[in-house]
Amino acid sequence: MISDQLNHASIIDSIRLAKTITKCQTAVYRHSDMADLEDRLKAANQARIKLIFTDGVFSMEGDIAKLPDIVALARKYDAVVAMDDSHATGVLGRSGRGTAEHYGMLGQVDIITSTLGKALGGAGGRLHRRPRRARRLPHAALPAAALFQRPPPTVAGSTLAAVQYVERHPELVTRLHEHARYFRSASGPGFRPLAGKRPSSR
Ligand SMILES: Cc1ncc(COP(=O)(O)O)c(C=O)c1O
Repeated sequence: MISDQLNHASIIDSIRLAKTITKCQTAVYRHSDMADLEDRLKAANQARIKLIFTDGVFSMEGDIAKLPDIVALARKYDAVVAMDDSHATGVLGRSGRGTAEHYGMLGQVDIITSTLGKALGGAGGRLHRRPRRARRLPHAALPAAALFQRPPPTVAGSTLAAVQYVERHPELVTRLHEHARYFRSASGPGFRPLAGKRPSSR
């Protein structure tokens, strides 16, 4: 498991859990440092499965993962990419499909997880996988089974409605991007936006 230094605490905890349960080896690469990630992949060359874990939009700094570089490195070193897209769901990309849509890379990320509790206004989580790249996941992810496999009907129903609403109203996503751009360009007291690629970037 090779994890970005600034991944959300829930990912850090899940990696600790995986280490205890599966005895997997773990490594952390410097935040969005692709040279460091490549070094970690080389060092893990003998591992049976190499998994890179990244946030899509980082929860602490609000910056966007360098997904094209991460996926390219994963292909080069035969690694699986898992991305927590909680802060990008309903936010990034023209229709709010998240970080992969933002980069024109829909369908290229092996595993995507996301909480339903942010832009979709619900609770619980969801997980997508490319079946051939992450076959064993539903069997191996027992601690998350309740969340991902048996959501309460009210949560499933309200989430479905929220997703359909966003699909019918892409203008909401456009307006959100406009608001983010406005706040990033506003120079009033208290506004000190961090530099770099953010959800307000085109
Ligand atoms: C990147 C990321 N993943 C997961 C979570 C967990 O979300 P929830 O509290 O909705 O389960 C958070 C919460 O802030 C987050 O920032």
